[in-house]
Amino acid sequence: MARFDRGRALGRMRWGLLLAALAFCAVSGGGYWWWQQQARLVEGEALFRGEAALAGALAGQAQSLPSMATRCSNCHETHQPQPLADKASSPVSASTYASPLSATWLQQARLRHGGPETRYDARSLCQLLRTGVDPAMIMVSTVMPRYQATDAQCAALWTYLTSR
Ligand code: HEC
Repeated sequence: MARFDRGRALGRMRWGLLLAALAFCAVSGGGYWWWQQQARLVEGEALFRGEAALAGALAGQAQSLPSMATRCSNCHETHQPQPLADKASSPVSASTYASPLSATWLQQARLRHGGPETRYDARSLCQLLRTGVDPAMIMVSTVMPRYQATDAQCAALWTYLTSR
């Protein structure tokens, strides 16, 4: 008859508990990461469309402009989900005024205007937003406002733009 080995049973139970705890951590950690990604995505889109506040000014100026003037979608959107009230100033074509921002556009190395290669990551996007200097250390057009974006706002915009 098999003898009940108490020590062994307890040992197995400990392993079982440890594995269950690890599985719980993995699942809740993954869930937390996913939830954070979703929150960044939503915030990034709101910043892009000027629905969330993002302080921006003309290059070299201290005075912040209203979000109506600084929202990214004014210049970087291919379609206007909410058409401008003033039909005369609505874009007549579907093409963007400035670069059509997407994961491919930002993350693939490209020769911009025949200059050195550019490829963005979260940090260089933030640098561009704050200073206008791109990853190849070239200043983009001063038509684009400069933003006092926080690290969190940069991260949200990066998450949103690379989801497109
Ligand atoms: C008033 C118009 C305008 C607004 C608003 C604007 N941009 Fe731009 N953006 C430009 C122009 C013009 C360029 C330069 C395009 C070029 O050199 O081909 C540019 C360039 C860029 C580039 C570099 C693209 C490339 O091809 O290398 C990124 C990234 C970018 N903008 C992101 C943003 C984000 C994010 C926002 C909002 C927080 C924003 N822009 C708001 C006009 C604008």
